[in-house]
Amino acid sequence: MSHHLSKSGAQKFMLGFLFTCITMVLYCLSTPALQASTQRLPVTPSCTYQTPTMQGQNSYLSRGTRELERCTPKLNLMFLKTHKTAGSTVLNILLRFGERNQLKFALPNGRNDFFYPAPFDRMQVKDYSPGACFNIVCNHMRFNVPEVEALLPQNAFFFTILRDPALVFESSFHYYKKVVPLTWRIQGEDKLSAFLNEPNRYFSQDGFHSYYLKNLQFFDLGYDNSLGPEDPAVDQAIQAVSERFQLVLISEHFEESLILLKDALCWQMDDLLFFKLNARRDASVSQLTPEQTAKARDWNGADWKLYRHFNTTLWAKVDAYGRKRMERDVRELRRRNTEMSAICIDGGMAVEEGDIRDQSMKPWQPLGESSILGYNLRTNIDQKYSELCRKMLTPEIQYLAELGVNLWITRLWGWVKDILSL
Ligand SMILES: *[C@@H]1O[C@H](CO)[C@@H](O)[C@H](O)[C@H]1NC(C)=O
Repeated sequence: MSHHLSKSGAQKFMLGFLFTCITMVLYCLSTPALQASTQRLPVTPSCTYQTPTMQGQNSYLSRGTRELERCTPKLNLMFLKTHKTAGSTVLNILLRFGERNQLKFALPNGRNDFFYPAPFDRMQVKDYSPGACFNIVCNHMRFNVPEVEALLPQNAFFFTILRDPALVFESSFHYYKKVVPLTWRIQGEDKLSAFLNEPNRYFSQDGFHSYYLKNLQFFDLGYDNSLGPEDPAVDQAIQAVSERFQLVLISEHFEESLILLKDALCWQMDDLLFFKLNARRDASVSQLTPEQTAKARDWNGADWKLYRHFNTTLWAKVDAYGRKRMERDVRELRRRNTEMSAICIDGGMAVEEGDIRDQSMKPWQPLGESSILGYNLRTNIDQKYSELCRKMLTPEIQYLAELGVNLWITRLWGWVKDILSL
């Protein structure tokens, strides 16, 4: 027995050692791009070129009457994609919108994010040159106001998405635990509970990847994730976010959030069609007890305060929009999504990775698992929907590759991950 234990301990150690080496290599490989950025370049002037026309918009479904109201769609967009918040679903909406309207994406280079957790720097943008015009930024980054502002036209619309920090914590803990060394020494089956019972026993701010375990949303927004909720800096941060971001979506009220987005951006219902991407299979989600939820919110106190603030502002916006009108629009959006799922998805729902037939439809998995669900396209889709269906179901990495992002670092890590998982 003890022989067995020490063997698996040694195995774990080797894995951890190997992982740390590989991560360090990847980190070193990725730093040249960052070093170049110490040299400041002039700020991009606002894109004064002709705005792309709204071409081929929504030719596939009829328009509702309300949507014919006059307004000009906003095309310059900053979406801060936060972790574990349904951001991938929003990303897919934006990638399709941008492509349809021939907008220019500020894309990452070498990986699928902007060298997270390093703060965003516009030198990380693929094909960046001073004065170049970009319309949309939407990939994972650690937010950094001046650099993002310098990249986009001045009238850009900033939005992001937040989720109950107890659920973000559960999801992040599960997804990243193998790459956060702080979790390795937690004993027993239920590491999540053990951690929540004594977070200070296991957590250290200096731990590698430690931000995945504490106030991850605060961290993504570029703030100090070690702040306690009573710290005045937390209120200042919340204030700054509410001044910079015109809209903060809430995952728990996803459709309502999208309708508000459509209203703010002067989009149409068809622009909002989505399938839930990157969801986990139910069995891999730990259903938190009320006590665990309370502990997780408490542990992520800054995020919990942030989340409550923006949940309140979201509902104030729903009130201003009109509750009845909102209910009607949410129903309509759900109806259309259901319609699309009957058109596009084989079997009408998400399946496990092993059941996805087409390699290009397989989503990215966390280390050592295949808990993320994906979809099979129906085989005989009406031609007028086939491109739309395929794009709606294409996972992030494949979609970015299609848009011309060189993903060599991501692919290298994917390859290492597959070997470690054997
Ligand atoms: C968010 O706001 C809604 C509407 O006021 C409320 O029903 C809900 O309980 C809030 N959620 C949380 C987690 O506070």
